[in-house]
Amino acid sequence: MQNFLNNGIAITGSGSAVPATSLDNQLLTELVETSDEWITSRTGISQRQLALPPESLTTLATDASKQALAAAGIKAEDIDLILLATSTPDDLFGNACRIQAELGAIKAVAFDLTAACSGFVFGLVTAAQYIRTGVYQNVLLIGGDILSRWVDWQDRRTCVLFGDGAGAVVIQANESDRLLGFSLKSDGTQNHYLNLNYEGTTKQITPNINVPIGAYHPITMNGKEVYRFAVQKVPEVIDKALFEAHLSVDKIDWLILHQANQRIINSVAERLNIPDHKVISNVAHYGNTSAASIPLALDEAVRQGKIKPNDIIATSGFGAGLTWGAAIFQWGR
Ligand code: ACO
Repeated sequence: MQNFLNNGIAITGSGSAVPATSLDNQLLTELVETSDEWITSRTGISQRQLALPPESLTTLATDASKQALAAAGIKAEDIDLILLATSTPDDLFGNACRIQAELGAIKAVAFDLTAACSGFVFGLVTAAQYIRTGVYQNVLLIGGDILSRWVDWQDRRTCVLFGDGAGAVVIQANESDRLLGFSLKSDGTQNHYLNLNYEGTTKQITPNINVPIGAYHPITMNGKEVYRFAVQKVPEVIDKALFEAHLSVDKIDWLILHQANQRIINSVAERLNIPDHKVISNVAHYGNTSAASIPLALDEAVRQGKIKPNDIIATSGFGAGLTWGAAIFQWGR
């Protein structure tokens, strides 16, 4: 019989992929009334990458996954579970199975998980439950989004913020448990602050039955409220996760927040008393890539040699739902 209590988890490899096409702030001024100065000073974003066909969520996520598998030193055939955190699948029935097919992960069960910009953190905790209970040993977690498909390119309040990308990690059963603490939250009463809603117009299919046939409409956001929510709730949820981990904030080596806005990152770091040199940020280059932003920033920092085995990382995702969450983990086995 399996001894469930011995099933810890470790994040053993990462990968990431961004589309080839750049859109910088200067080019955006040709689309909407804005300026590089406004965007940089309010958000810290200088440019973003946009996925254009034949690039898709499947191609980006597959590229990121191959790198993560290589870094972890496992084969696609060894994966038990593929979790894809996304709000922008190539197919609304789910995108994870397409990635499974591309990778040749014949043994894996694959499904999508949607929690907007919190998707990666929610996915990390979900993966951990499967491993801790002894059900699976090798999980591939991908965070990927193509929000450029869903932005109103005439709306300067939102179109300057988002970009596309994917990041992936391999999470494996491990003797010691490297997920030290976590906390997840949702508040649907604030759902109306950030939406990508379905709207239909009524189509009569029988004399008594009218079906709403329509489409999803571009992102709408109350930026001020989302900002207020983030700077208040993110420090709280990181504190909660640190408490669960029995760690004080000075034990954190790196802070990797969802890369939505440099001002949010700075404000959260300041509230938690985390010095600048421990804060990882790449929002300037990619904008807000939603579920991809944390694994993208993590992977870059690992490849740059910043993050080393055993470093303690505090991460937090936040966004539509509203959803938010934090996890404290140690890098590597
Ligand atoms: N260029 C120039 N002017 C602009 C732009 C722009 N791109 N966008 C808005 N403005 C104008 C507004 O119209 C407004 O003008 P007015 O005073 O004449 O009405 C002025 O700039 C100030 O606008 P605010 O919305 O008050 O600007 P604010 O300082 O709040 O910054 C921002 C806006 C950057 C969106 C900020 O509120 C923010 O970052 N919020 C958080 C957003 C976020 O992170 N969302 C993602 C969540 S993750 C997810 O789940 C997808």
